[in-house]
Amino acid sequence: MKTLFILLFVIKFISSKPTSIVLWHGMGDTCCVSFSLGGIKVFLENNIPGVYVTSLRIGNSTVEDFENGYFMNPNYQVEYVCKQLAADPNLKDGFNAIGFSQGSQFLRAVVQRCGHILPPIKNLISLGGQHQGVYGLPHCGALMHPTCDYIRQVLNYAAYDSWVQDALVQATYWHDPLDEETYINKSIFLAEINNELRVNKTYIENLNNLQHFVLVKFDNDTIVQPRETEWFGFYDPGQSKKVVPFYETRLYVEDRLGLRKMHKDGRLVLISTEGDHLRFSDKWLVETIIKPYLLN
Ligand SMILES: *[C@@H]1O[C@H](CO)[C@@H](O)[C@H](O)[C@H]1NC(C)=O
Ligand SMILES: *[C@@H]1O[C@H](CO)[C@@H](O)[C@H](O)[C@H]1NC(C)=O
Ligand SMILES: *[C@@H]1O[C@H](CO)[C@@H](O)[C@H](O)[C@H]1NC(C)=O
Ligand SMILES: *[C@@H]1O[C@H](CO)[C@@H](O)[C@H](O)[C@H]1NC(C)=O
Repeated sequence: MKTLFILLFVIKFISSKPTSIVLWHGMGDTCCVSFSLGGIKVFLENNIPGVYVTSLRIGNSTVEDFENGYFMNPNYQVEYVCKQLAADPNLKDGFNAIGFSQGSQFLRAVVQRCGHILPPIKNLISLGGQHQGVYGLPHCGALMHPTCDYIRQVLNYAAYDSWVQDALVQATYWHDPLDEETYINKSIFLAEINNELRVNKTYIENLNNLQHFVLVKFDNDTIVQPRETEWFGFYDPGQSKKVVPFYETRLYVEDRLGLRKMHKDGRLVLISTEGDHLRFSDKWLVETIIKPYLLN
């Protein structure tokens, strides 16, 4: 009798599949090519035997997927993805999610807006996400050139026009620290998911249902300005030089996303790594992400 139980247990153990994984690519990238997320998918499959990995394609073709990374309103992208995830039978027992760059804040929006109607989302991994938005152009910040600051100020005039918000994805997470109020009033995506204008309790509950929310910051990132946004830090309001850590931002002080509790419980995990945007080694991926978070 006892052996039978052990046998059944072993069979159950062997037949239980690892948790499925969902990937969302960044700007200027697509779901599936082999030198990018297609390669990551294969790498995960090789390192987690039997795992199901799906890399989200936004649109009906790779070309559309690429274009949508710039031009499809993130609110619709999130809605589209919620439907895709709900319809995928391979995710019905729950899944882990990995966002690459802007894909990170989009996946966070999926958790917040659809977590209660989707199968359990276990761990959310953000690789270089812009959770407090950006104020700067790729490569510009690292140059420390005065023109960069000038360009940012020019962009402030246009970014919050409603037609720009509708037409350009990156405008929806443009965060002008010189005019927080306009950002809060007019950003149709980021300010909304960050509960800046009003607090949506569902967002807080859904985020808190995650086992872990892992934020990876690339210490030598030349694409994302400021880098600290990858850990929810940002420029202190009213100026554009001094950056404050998450703990000093309004989001944390007023706990508008309920992340304080997650942080105290050790479920909000802040990791940094040397290197430019999304640069990491296979070994780093295995040791830092796969082993602790994807083998459950
Ligand atoms: C996919 O194609 C259908 C039919 O042409 C279209 O209605 C839909 O908007 C497309 N999806 C996206 C996300 O572009
Ligand atoms: C809060 O978010 C949920 C999930 O997206 C949504 O159904 C609800 O309408 C939102 N509530 C408010 C007050 O916006
Ligand atoms: C933001 O919205 C509030 C409430 O509608 C309004 O009183 C305020 O003037 C707005 N501020 C800006 C800078 O648009
Ligand atoms: C990367 O950034 C870290 C932390 O700011 C710094 O100590 C290190 O020297 C930088 N490495 C390179 C190669 O720039």
